[in-house]
Amino acid sequence: MSRWVDDLQVAAEHLLPEVVAAYYRQGAGDGLSAAEAAQGWRDVRLRPRVLRDVSRVTTATTLLGTPVPWPIAIAPTSLQRYAADAGEAAMAVGVAATDTLLVVSSNAGSTFTSVAAAGAPWWVQVYVLRDRGLTRGMLDLATSAGARAVVVTVDTPITGTKDGDGPSVWVSTPTGYSHTNVHLAAGSRPVDLTKADDLTPDIIGWLAEVTGLPVVVKGVVRGDDAVRAVDAGAAAVWVSNHGGRQLDQTVSALSALSEVVAAVGDDVEVYVDGGVRRGVDVLIARALGARCAFVGRPALWALTVDGPAGVERLVAELGAELREAMTVAGCPTLADVAADLVVGGSSRE
Ligand code: FNR
Repeated sequence: MSRWVDDLQVAAEHLLPEVVAAYYRQGAGDGLSAAEAAQGWRDVRLRPRVLRDVSRVTTATTLLGTPVPWPIAIAPTSLQRYAADAGEAAMAVGVAATDTLLVVSSNAGSTFTSVAAAGAPWWVQVYVLRDRGLTRGMLDLATSAGARAVVVTVDTPITGTKDGDGPSVWVSTPTGYSHTNVHLAAGSRPVDLTKADDLTPDIIGWLAEVTGLPVVVKGVVRGDDAVRAVDAGAAAVWVSNHGGRQLDQTVSALSALSEVVAAVGDDVEVYVDGGVRRGVDVLIARALGARCAFVGRPALWALTVDGPAGVERLVAELGAELREAMTVAGCPTLADVAADLVVGGSSRE
């Protein structure tokens, strides 16, 4: 089945300079983890239920208390101003039209206030810098602009070397395309963007204290790490291998999901991202215990191809697919989407 979404990457890459297209597409190392993510979801087989009343299907849920129409939201990605002039602010306009939420990178080119003006609920993602004062200044801007949670990305003590032998997009990226809020926070002070490589679970308490917001820990692929994060106060754990962009040959988020869910139980919300391309992928994510599936690259491609309207269409199509999948799988509510729907997902088989 060919759909608009399937053609997005090709359509976007026609419009983007090759150095940007490569940056959006790339994985780390030889790109093995990046290449296998989407296929992982497609290899799952389902056990639909029958003779259930699916005359009314509800897909709505909440994410840390924020209502969303589907368990589908937008992951943080850098350099969105290459996809649309207004960058993250344009992404937020598209997301606002769908009533779901987005996560805004600490690398964003748009100001947090311009993102907030779109009216969509948003969370700020943070790469904690060695310069904690600067990190705090950036977070202060986010909280005063209305961020509802802070997502700390913990899989990036250093930035993974990307696959391919082309030049790095960062060499030619104009001022104002990235780290705008960090520079705003710095004022006239010099800016050192070196990431902290000494983080421990203590950072979770620090972030909660300086922001007053719930802390989501992004980039976990092991049950023991998820437990450490929860014990340190995390409100949610986000299972992710960073779109395969950090350590190549890291397990897929899909294959790590059940271990993390089993480790943390119902104590916190668990999210997943990486290769989610269809509504049925979201159904599988929910069945395996994720509260929400986040989407990265397709949102960049949709923003490139059709601006905010493209983002709106992407989310709406994934949401419609999820609704159809729930209907045909015999699941009128998300609570019915349980592990027994997935082959190998339940001990009850
Ligand atoms: C990312 N990702 C990312 N994550 C993060 O926490 N902060 C960031 O600034 C970025 N930047 C970024 C740029 C680009 C171009 C990509 C593709 C990804 C990772 C992102 O949040 C997410 O984990 C993955 O993109 C999910 O995989 P899919 O949906 O792209 O397959």
